[in-house]
Amino acid sequence: MTHTTTLIRNGRIITASDDYVADVLLQDGKVHTIGKGIEVGPDVRVVDASGLYVLPGGVDTHVHLENVIGPTITTDTFASGTKAAAFGGTTTIVDFALQTELDSPLGAIARAQRSAESQVNVDYSLHVIIKRVDEQVLRDVRHAMHFEGVTSFKMFMAYPGVMMADDASIFRMLRQVGADGGMVALHAENGTVIDLLIKEALEAGHTSPRYHALTRPSLMEGEATHRGIRLAELAQAPIYFVHVSSNDALKHIVSARAEGIPVFAETCPHYLLFDDSVYDNDDFETAKYVMTPPLRKPDDQKHLWRALRYDDLQVIATDHCPFCMKEGHLGLRSSKLRGTKNFAEIPNGAPGIETRLVSLFDIGVMQGKLSLNRFVELTSTTPAKLFGLFPKKGTVAVGSDADIVLFNPNVSQTIHAKHLHSNCDHTLLEGRSLQGRVEKVFLRGNLIVDGEHWHGREGMGQFVKRGEVRAF
Ligand code: URP
Ligand code: ZN
Ligand code: ZN
Ligand code: ZN
Repeated sequence: MTHTTTLIRNGRIITASDDYVADVLLQDGKVHTIGKGIEVGPDVRVVDASGLYVLPGGVDTHVHLENVIGPTITTDTFASGTKAAAFGGTTTIVDFALQTELDSPLGAIARAQRSAESQVNVDYSLHVIIKRVDEQVLRDVRHAMHFEGVTSFKMFMAYPGVMMADDASIFRMLRQVGADGGMVALHAENGTVIDLLIKEALEAGHTSPRYHALTRPSLMEGEATHRGIRLAELAQAPIYFVHVSSNDALKHIVSARAEGIPVFAETCPHYLLFDDSVYDNDDFETAKYVMTPPLRKPDDQKHLWRALRYDDLQVIATDHCPFCMKEGHLGLRSSKLRGTKNFAEIPNGAPGIETRLVSLFDIGVMQGKLSLNRFVELTSTTPAKLFGLFPKKGTVAVGSDADIVLFNPNVSQTIHAKHLHSNCDHTLLEGRSLQGRVEKVFLRGNLIVDGEHWHGREGMGQFVKRGEVRAF
């Protein structure tokens, strides 16, 4: 592909460590030169970025596009989800490839790639969800790491019968993947106790969405987090916890890190934006807050912010897992309406891929909770490092991919689902006014978002082969 050469003039370049005004020359898909007063010929496109931030493209390492979860399927395709990502300033996603009962991790990767290839608008990779571990699976995992560029694997301690793996399986994966330089990501909740609480709630006639939250107590997130840490410690492997929502989980992460155990963790924007007061009713509208783990208390948010600031949490990813409130284009399969009579049948998950950067800029940077450098580190640099994408992705540096976001901190916008690009029919941020706006997005030097205008193309995203994790 031919890349237009572009000079971004006079922007304020923000990386995880730097903050300065300079010009950036994008050529052949890479950052070619950074400097003051770069001279170029008339054939080079010049973009004036005075007053704008020049950020590395966002890296969102927790995204569910076209994911089949039990009898449901998320409502965004690789096409719609990656277009939404791009408009939100995210240029790399890591989605999931699901190992089925029948096939191997390698089959799962090939299947996801076949579907993604012609559709993706931004660069992408895959974590493989491992449900079942045996000798052949472990050989295939090793092959995926060394030959397919897939160096992370997700396992679930929740959802018995659907996704859950037992402790010994998780331990075997940690031991091998850790030794080979990869990462196991864990969904930490005590699945069997939660299933019992759900059964008891339903038997007592409690069917409305609020019982989703009441049957997934933070103590059971904490218990599983603690168990996961001990398994990783025994395996002498790094471990990554997805969607940490509560201090009951966080406190185990904090103390393990203080002991020098390589434990890493993400939280998601919704845990910072909303709390469990949204569940104080029996309305079905509340189904849009049915995600796992559920929203927690304001006190939990206080602890999450502290951890984000002082590096006990290293990543903010979306867990974008969209299901429509009405019947979506895929019908009931991708609709929250499945659970009108039974909260346990409401598909879990919320959208958020397009609003991650702007919402965190508003509630984090503007409110003095995160520095600009930390904002970039949490949303781009560290996810790239932890999942083997750095320095190709995750920074603005000579030789890195020219994935660049021009961000305007001086304008505000009001969020409406109808202006977003996801197939999802709602956003948790409907009507909310946020400071900041993504103005332009470059993917490997190609201008794909220009204000409201779309210049990207389905299929232009590339599968990125990842290297070893840079965890410590
Ligand atoms: O509610 C959520 N998070 N749904 C997606 C599946 C998962 O647990 O990540
Ligand atoms: Zn999960
Ligand atoms: Zn998820
Ligand atoms: Zn245009």
